[in-house]
Amino acid sequence: MDKIIVRGGHRLQGEVQVSGAKNAALPLLCATLLAAGTHELRNLPGLRDIDTAVQLLHIMGAQTEAGAPGTLRINADDIICAEAPYDLVRTMRASVLVLGPLLARLGYARVSLPGGCAIGARPVDQHLSGLEAMGAQISLEHGYIEARAKRLRGARIYLDIPTVGGTENLLMAATLAHGRTIIENAACEPEIEDLATALQHMGAQIEGAGSDTLTIHGVDSLRPMNHTVMSDRIEAGTFMVAAAITGGDVLVVGAQPEHLEAVISKLRQSGAEVHCVAEGIRVQCNTTLQPLRIKTSPHPGFPTDMQAQFMALLTQADGTSVISENVFENRFMHVSELQRLGAQIRVEGRQATIQGKANLLGAPVMATDLRASASLVLAALAAENTTEISRIYHLDRGYEKLEVKLKKLGADIKRVS
Ligand code: UD1
Repeated sequence: MDKIIVRGGHRLQGEVQVSGAKNAALPLLCATLLAAGTHELRNLPGLRDIDTAVQLLHIMGAQTEAGAPGTLRINADDIICAEAPYDLVRTMRASVLVLGPLLARLGYARVSLPGGCAIGARPVDQHLSGLEAMGAQISLEHGYIEARAKRLRGARIYLDIPTVGGTENLLMAATLAHGRTIIENAACEPEIEDLATALQHMGAQIEGAGSDTLTIHGVDSLRPMNHTVMSDRIEAGTFMVAAAITGGDVLVVGAQPEHLEAVISKLRQSGAEVHCVAEGIRVQCNTTLQPLRIKTSPHPGFPTDMQAQFMALLTQADGTSVISENVFENRFMHVSELQRLGAQIRVEGRQATIQGKANLLGAPVMATDLRASASLVLAALAAENTTEISRIYHLDRGYEKLEVKLKKLGADIKRVS
């Protein structure tokens, strides 16, 4: 298994290009199941989760052909299998996003229940009750969700929680339903807007994309998509924190300020200078970092996917910071690894108190989930001596060539097998 080895203490400087967004690409790949013909997706990131999603499409009968880097053509003429097997779903929860498209196009879908994962129980009850409201018959047997509906019908759905995946599944399903669907308390994440844009180009009738109320007028069929995936706001945010934690000066090319308002605001409060320029976002930091109070919440609130990275940053702030995790119930696994590097963090329930400034010292640490791995890399950049991060397959699920990009910015970082 690969490891990443970082020698901290180097100031990052220069330009870094953001890749396509994993969390936009995954639902977009699933949406190709909605329409026959050849779809084209560009700016796909080179990630393990994308490979898993493509594998899933192959199982269902789609054929793919790679074009220029980041470009994939997907032919979805013959979708002959409507099953997402356990072996794939357990490696990537987002596989559940095939449920809505398969059911809408084929009238049947069998998808393994995702089950628990490292950052909490993460149920899919809102996906299922929404589909039931649209007329689907749903049963749970042998660890699988089985859903049937001759043709889904429009419905008024109020989500108990603004779930990202739930909103995406129901949005995709509703595009081919008979009649009008209204999804209230929908998630507003930019990735959902990107999905809605692609669906609209496929012929879907969607109003309210980007807001908490989506209205979808179902159509009889859709055309294939031709779409460029939006840039990854979480990868961008991670580089912005990397600049701040190393007292550096980094231009994050392709970062979109309108997707990163809460992150920009917190970085500015911490004392970093953030400039939104034509090419992206530039972060400079040559001052003592200030402590922060952060509460994660659905978009446009502070993203839970940036919580671990900011925790690493706040170990270097001068004073006491508090982070409340309000989206997931168990998303502080990085704390014990950060403590191994010398961080002073106390966790009580969903709240972590970080006492800065800690003198971080390199140590062997272990990645526990995707964003936790990023926080360890960031902490390692600020630590003295060498940090060895194992289990980086988590990192490879969501960051394209992170060590290569950081090295270009001046980090002393390498991957070893
Ligand atoms: C997506 C993102 C993930 C991000 C998360 C929150 C993808 C592929 N992943 O995950 O990176 O951290 O949004 O921004 O886009 N919940 C229920 N019932 C449901 C669905 C969700 O109770 O039916 C709960 C979950 O347990 C969790 C919360 O709602 O506590 C948010 O989950 P959700 O928004 O669905 O996250 P994902 O779509 O899984």
